[in-house]
Amino acid sequence: MNPGARSRVWLNGRLVPAFRARVSVFDRGFLFGDGVYETMRAYAGRPFRLAQHLDRLGASAWRLDLRLPGGRRGAARAVRSVLAANRLGDARVRVTVTRGAGPAELGKTAPARPTMLAVAVPYSPPSPREYREGVGVILARTRRNPREALDPAIKSNNLINNMLAKMEAARAGARDAIFLNIAGHLAEGSTSNVFLVDGGVLMTPALSCGILPGVTRAAVIGLARRMGMVVREGRFTPHDLARADEVFLTASTVELLPVGRIGRRRLPAARPVTARLLAGYRALVARELGLRR
Ligand code: PDD
Repeated sequence: MNPGARSRVWLNGRLVPAFRARVSVFDRGFLFGDGVYETMRAYAGRPFRLAQHLDRLGASAWRLDLRLPGGRRGAARAVRSVLAANRLGDARVRVTVTRGAGPAELGKTAPARPTMLAVAVPYSPPSPREYREGVGVILARTRRNPREALDPAIKSNNLINNMLAKMEAARAGARDAIFLNIAGHLAEGSTSNVFLVDGGVLMTPALSCGILPGVTRAAVIGLARRMGMVVREGRFTPHDLARADEVFLTASTVELLPVGRIGRRRLPAARPVTARLLAGYRALVARELGLRR
């Protein structure tokens, strides 16, 4: 996420030129990953499902006993301000809240003033080819950190677990890696949720598998049910992945991204369910945001 030279970011209640924005070297977000964030997608300048992203930001912050500066409204204002200030239409927006600058020792009293940063950059989608042919993924050797250790439902600034899986993917020449949880059940992608289609049934790991409750995941589940599909949220295994007719990833920044290859195995080129859901998702976005299509 590299903002352009003239772009402005929202830092602690003010819009400032990106190149002048500074955060303290004592910020606990930097020192300890002690913070939370959200990434969302804006279409024609309007963030999709902003309320859901703010709910999740609030829930993540609550889990870390962290206060959102200005509350939910402060975060909403930050998102809208960076979009407007940079005159962005299709954009990727990230809001980061950390515990702020304080003593550089973990156990010392927490600082009073959290840091809040919002950055918006032009949206760069996966390529048309990736949507057409599907992307390559691998099954990560790194397991998703268990809920009992660092709950993946907390969207925290500590992304090392995700990064280890992403690095495995990069080494294998794949776009993403799918995590198993400690019990050996499918969990999620390194920065996405995962769906399988088998015999027309849509399947996705349940939240209890230890995953991020994706905003796109929830939208897709709702959409599929309204379309009359059978949706199963449950526990699935690499065996289920291996026999799936279709597999796709979901995230705000990729919508629904078809998987064309898992390790060395190619999936069937026909992906009727994924195609129907992707079209349905785009129509849903347009409807909710009042976009002309
Ligand atoms: N990540 N799972 C993980 C681990 C993620 O990091 C993400 C999104 C998702 C999908 O969530 P949503 O549908 O709400 O975008 C699932 C964003 C894109 C990020 O980290 O920037």
